[in-house]
This record gives sequence, structure tokens and C-alpha cells, in this order.
Amino acid sequence: MKITLNGTSVTAFEGENVLEVALRSGVDIPHLCYHPVMPSIGACRMCLVEIDGINGYPASCTTTVADGMVVRTRTEAVRDRQRENLELILLEHPSSCLVCYKKEACQLFRPDKEKAGTTTGCQSCSNKHDCEVQRLTVELNVTSLPVGSFYRNVEPIRTDPFIENDPNLCILCGRCEHICRHHHESPVIVFTGRGPDARAGQAFDHTLSQTGCRFCGSCVDLCPTGSLAERFAKWYDQPEHTFETTCAFCDAACALTVMETEGRVFSAAGLDQKLPICVLGRFTIPYFLSSRDRLTHPEIKVGEVMREVSWEAAFEKATAILTPLRGEAFAFVCDRSGTVEDRLAARTFTEEVMGSTHYIEIEDGEDATPVKLPDGVRAVMLTGDFVDRKTLAGLDAVVMLDCFPTEAGGEATVLLPAAVLLETAGHMVDETGTERPMVKCARAPGQARQDWEIICGLISAMGDEERAGGLADEIAARIDGSDAVIVVDRQRAPDPALDITKIRTRYRGHVIAERVPPLQEVQTPRGATTEEALSEVSTCSEC
Ligand code: FES
Repeated sequence: MKITLNGTSVTAFEGENVLEVALRSGVDIPHLCYHPVMPSIGACRMCLVEIDGINGYPASCTTTVADGMVVRTRTEAVRDRQRENLELILLEHPSSCLVCYKKEACQLFRPDKEKAGTTTGCQSCSNKHDCEVQRLTVELNVTSLPVGSFYRNVEPIRTDPFIENDPNLCILCGRCEHICRHHHESPVIVFTGRGPDARAGQAFDHTLSQTGCRFCGSCVDLCPTGSLAERFAKWYDQPEHTFETTCAFCDAACALTVMETEGRVFSAAGLDQKLPICVLGRFTIPYFLSSRDRLTHPEIKVGEVMREVSWEAAFEKATAILTPLRGEAFAFVCDRSGTVEDRLAARTFTEEVMGSTHYIEIEDGEDATPVKLPDGVRAVMLTGDFVDRKTLAGLDAVVMLDCFPTEAGGEATVLLPAAVLLETAGHMVDETGTERPMVKCARAPGQARQDWEIICGLISAMGDEERAGGLADEIAARIDGSDAVIVVDRQRAPDPALDITKIRTRYRGHVIAERVPPLQEVQTPRGATTEEALSEVSTCSEC
């Protein structure tokens, strides 16, 4: 069908709303509560337009197109209504910076304040310079408010893992409540209170964990103000770089957009906002990668203690203890969390350098059962916490490539720090058997290296420089020449995003929650569950 938009005929499709047609046709209509990944709400009244035959100024996001419709989006009357509505919205949002006539100079010359306890202006807001309210204020040229804005003066909620909620910044657009309902059917975010006490949050002041939140982060992604903020990321300004890559926590292989500054990842979110990702991909990666417990330097056992040494010294020691145990006395144990290239290097090392058939690749990374080594094995290389300490203690040589210290690691003769997750480049295999690219987004801590680099270094130290060079070249060519693509248009949300009990608990044999403390609360909610919260509704005697 055709509609006329500001005097121009444009094509529209059955079921579309006027705002969708306008945006698709390159005509921007101011909007706040509308978001393309969910059904329209019609709450903010920012997207008003004039339509022939319809009285007043209908909201374009809730008005379905009809053939022959004549729409005007830029008349002076429309702009006035939009400006008035924005002024009303700003009356309940800290607005002094938004309408300040010196704001440009302020943004230019005044450094951003980080770690502000409570946000009262744009300089200390976690949305920083990526703010939809800020953009609309400029676009509609709102430079003053009819009366001073009302500050709710409510204590921000900081009791939830991963997410903070500052109700003082909320403009009640409803996006958070709506996306939660849209993704998860039973929303954990609701509107509570009336009038000046109205806010988006949890009923009965329960925490997000108590109400059964899956921590997919969609509410944070869509919040147009800094009201809902990611706890880890809120201390960072705009990223120096953003990357698109694949989450390697499980074989759902969700596409991620990753924010990095100075080599450090501080936020990762789903690339396809139509489908939520799970709490591991959305929130845990920065905690996991920046854990203070990470192994950062090669170590070798001297007497009964581990000593930090150079890579050369570590390779020399590994060579000395592994060389006499070539053949079936050697085993390599890893799981599938490493890249395809890491596992190619491990298999090559086991079969071609050590001459052993004992390349053991654990299929199910969730299995906490210690791996039983084949009879006759006296030396082992491991990429995680897969073999119990007693077994390792009985071997002649243990070389560990790992990211965290473990109890079993106390039996290692050589401990080599490994880069993991977003610190690695290569490929992973998703649940359909398709290779997905992993892009290196972060600097590994200290001297940590990716598994395949460590293995090539060891092969070289063992005297086979030609094989080491050939393997490194093969892997580099495999990564550079790859045509693998990330999965952006998945057809469904992965199970863990919908049912939090299905999230993985282990990575390289390590319990993820031990390295990401807030995750412990997600997996073991305190107090009431959703059912218990709902039962309070039916037994309440107040109304
Ligand atoms: Fe249409 Fe909010 S964007 S009413």
C-alpha cells in the first residue's frame, strides 16, 4: 500500500505502524518508548504526528497504517506538542545539565566524573554520551523547563547482582517492563506506586534474584536513561573499541558486541536484541576475565613451591620432564572450551610430537567427574581442572595450561598461564556443527598466551622448530582465511536465557560462579521465589 509522508508517497506494508514506515523511509520522528525489537507501548507520547481524518495528534507508534493515509510529522504544531511532552518527561528526570545553556562547553572542558554515588547530572550518568533523552532535548531545542524539575530523592537499588537501578533517573517509559514481558512472558519488572512515587522495579521490594530474573540484561540494553545500569560497565566511559564476536561459554554460540578500553573488556551484550542471551554472555565475562585470581606468569615447581619464571625457563623445564616420557606414557586432557585451533595444536602435539594416542577431549564440559587416565600414563598435560589431585600426585610429570589456580594444580611441575574466551582468536563449533569466529577483543593478563601459542612454543623448545613453525603458520592461515560468520539472526533464544537452571556452571573444569561472585546469587536466589512472591499477593490483607 502507499501512504503520503510529509508530501512524499512511500510504500507501507500491512500491519506496520506509521513510525515504522517513517523510520524505514528515512523520516525521523522523535520517540522514546518505542523500540523495534518489541511491540509498541504508546506510553511516552513523543512520536505524535498529524494524520488527515484523525482528530488531534495520534501517536505514530500505535497507529497502524492504512492505504492512502496522509501523515505530517514536521509541522510547527507537531513540534510544539512533542516539545511540551518532552518538557513534562524532563520534569521528573535530573534535567539541569540537559537544558543548561553552557552544556557544550561543559562537555568539552569538564572531565567526566566517574564513580558518582548518585547521578544528578549528565556528567556523572552511566549513559554518558549515548543518551536518547539528551539527543531529543537537542533535537527539539528544549532549553528551559516551565518549572524546576522534581528530584525523587530515592535511594538507588544496589542489592542486585550485575544490575543497579536508580529510580531517580527513570522516565517511566515502560521499555524495561515491556521487554521483560515480551522475552519472558512473566515479567519480573513491574510498575509500582502512584503519581510521584511511581517507578519501575520489583513488587514488594523483592530483589531481582528473588523474583526469578534470568539476568538476560534486555532491560538494561533498552533503558533510554541511566536508570538501569550494568554494575561493572557503569564506571567506564564510551569504549575505545567495539568488537563483534561469538560467546564461547556454550555451543549456543550467541553473537556478542563487546566493549573494550585499554585492552580490557568491560561489557558484552547480545548483538540481536530481538532474542535475549543468557547471564553468562551478558554479564559474567568482564568479571571472569579480570578476576584477580588469574594466572599471569609461567611457574615451575622448585622444591615444594611454585616460582615465577620466564617462558623460556618454563619451556625448558617442561621439555626436561616430558621428553623421557614420550609414547603411550603421555596423555593430553582438554575440553571443548578451547578454540578449534587450540585443540588442533593439542592433538598434533600429542600424536606427532609425543607419539601418544592418548589425546583426551572431554565432550561435556559440565561433567564434574574427574577424568580417569589410561593405564600406563605417567605424564599429563591439562588445560583445566579435569583430573583429581590424587591422580596427578602419582604421576612423574604434570604440565598445566590454565587460567586459574586449582587445588590439583598444586601437583603441577610446570604451570603455564592461558588466555581464554575473548582473549583468544580462532573458531568454536556451535550446536549445529558450524564453525563460528572468535575475535580477540581483550589483552590477556600478564604474560598469558593462547593454548596453541603455548603448545607451538613448547614444540619449538623440544627441538622441532620446523614443526612448530609449520603448525603456527597453518593455524594463522586458518584464522586469517576464515569465512565463518557469527550467528546474528538466531531463530530462538538459547535455553539458558529462558531457564536459568540450564546455564553452564563450568568452564575449563572451573566452577564459573567461584570466579564471578555475583553469579552465586543468581544461581541460589535468596528468600522468596516468583511463586512465593505471587502467593503474597493472594494473602495480602491490606486491600
Ligand atoms: Fe510512541 Fe512513545 S514512542 S508513544
